[in-house]
Amino acid sequence: MFQKFLNFNKVTFSYDSMSAPLIAELSHSFPPGWYAIAGANGTGKTTFLKLASAIIMPDSGTVTIPGSVYYCEQRTDTPPEISRKMIDDNNGSAENAMRKLGVQRGWFDNWQVLSHGERKKFQLACALWMNPDVLCVDEPFNHLDAAAKQAVVSALKGYAGIGLLVSHDRETSDELCRGCLIIDGNRITAHNRGISDALVTLDIINASKKKEFMEKQRGLRRLSDELTNRKNKAMQADSKRSKKHLDRHDSDGRAKIDLARLTGKDAVAGRLQKQMEKRVLRVSDELGRIEYIKEKRHVIFLPGSKSRRNYIFKTERHVIGMGNKTLVIPRLILDTHEKVSVTGGNGAGKSTFINFMMQGINTEEGHICYIPQEITKVQSDKIWKQIRAMNGADLGRVLVIISNLGSDPKQLLQSVSPSPGETRKLMLAMGIMKTPHIIVMDEPTNHMDIISIQCLETALKECPCAVVLVSHDIKFLNAITDKNWHIECGGNESLMLTETRRTGFNDVMKG
Ligand SMILES: Nc1ncnc2c1ncn2[C@@H]1O[C@H](COP(=O)(O)OP(=O)(O)OP(=O)(O)O)[C@@H](O)[C@H]1O
Ligand SMILES: [Mg+2]
Repeated sequence: MFQKFLNFNKVTFSYDSMSAPLIAELSHSFPPGWYAIAGANGTGKTTFLKLASAIIMPDSGTVTIPGSVYYCEQRTDTPPEISRKMIDDNNGSAENAMRKLGVQRGWFDNWQVLSHGERKKFQLACALWMNPDVLCVDEPFNHLDAAAKQAVVSALKGYAGIGLLVSHDRETSDELCRGCLIIDGNRITAHNRGISDALVTLDIINASKKKEFMEKQRGLRRLSDELTNRKNKAMQADSKRSKKHLDRHDSDGRAKIDLARLTGKDAVAGRLQKQMEKRVLRVSDELGRIEYIKEKRHVIFLPGSKSRRNYIFKTERHVIGMGNKTLVIPRLILDTHEKVSVTGGNGAGKSTFINFMMQGINTEEGHICYIPQEITKVQSDKIWKQIRAMNGADLGRVLVIISNLGSDPKQLLQSVSPSPGETRKLMLAMGIMKTPHIIVMDEPTNHMDIISIQCLETALKECPCAVVLVSHDIKFLNAITDKNWHIECGGNESLMLTETRRTGFNDVMKG
């Protein structure tokens, strides 16, 4: 049977503001199946998906798309263009796509009040309903609770075309994908296996290249020492065959020098020096051609400090209205050093609770670091403008944090529109510079690459100030927090927040 391929042929692309290509001379063919696209924030994963969907065109080379293509966006700012068509479609396929993901038709008209998890599910329902020949999904698991994520994974498994998936969730990518592309700087490697296995292979290759590099470097040092030796000998030989130092009447000495010149004995040292120079050149050329990735320790320091107040947040029992639902908050206190997680399913009201909490934070002004769940493109561009207007010293501090979080500050400086992951890192850097008394992060692991999540986990664990984290990433929360505020659906559309200490935390999560 004729098989359809998505083909990249020598594709090169850079944004206008960039001095070097973001993607250089990429050739690859994708037969049907799912493929993961992996790489640090800002390496060009979304750009790659937009090239595959013909939303942007390569500077050179060609992308051949076998039939229809659909790109399911990373951002959740606006509903997909095809939303209206999907909700008006009554032929069953729309109903089917929406049912699979628990999506309701009415959500489209209420986009602004939908949670980001609900928006994500709606976007994905549109993508599945389209059922194109090539489907590109950009961070489909962001914002989703465990049940929604499982529903998305099984829906994606049922897709039979050529699927490209960008996600920092390695486990799920591995479960779904038969191959992957790994982007590292402008080096892209393709693998017929999942990301985890491909990274192990790349590590092994890198380790062996590093070993070869080190051995050659040691060899080059030995050869360079030998070359110095030989140069000295050649210089000595040169001075010996010079007649300048001889007495005018020393005819024996002159005869010896003449004989040495005639037999070529005097030129041996010079010849040996030349041979060694050639070897040194050859080995240093070979050394220059061995490319391996130098390990970099990614560490950030969160210089928070404890507030001098008695507590950082306190509330008596309170009820918040959320459309036709209510969220009941019991009496809560957060001490100046405590670290708490906020959990609950999609639409449970976690962000509503965070907004309520932010209004009652009790600390010295200017010492709050708050990173919201989503940052729209407009907000992100505004933040970038603020950062570009910083003085040199502050901008330098921001860029060091960006580099420590695993993104390329030089490339970022050339950007006119930072990617969602880069924006989160920039906001974190700005927050760090305030010496926060409290750090509040709503879904901190969304959009962030694996290196920065690991780095953030260690830094949050060690920082002395209060921390509030909203997340579906239980491993991440377990590693950092002391207690949990969990929102559970009660009766009569009423949602209850309950507090558990760390010991009871895992039981709540299992329930
Ligand atoms: N319109 C643009 N003009 C200039 N630079 C841009 C533009 N859009 C994106 N960039 C830059 O290009 C690089 C790649 O962006 P892209 O959105 O493809 O990254 P990504 O790998 O998807 O990142 P993330 O993991 O954060 O989603 C980034 O450094 C970004 O700042
Ligand atoms: Mg992206």
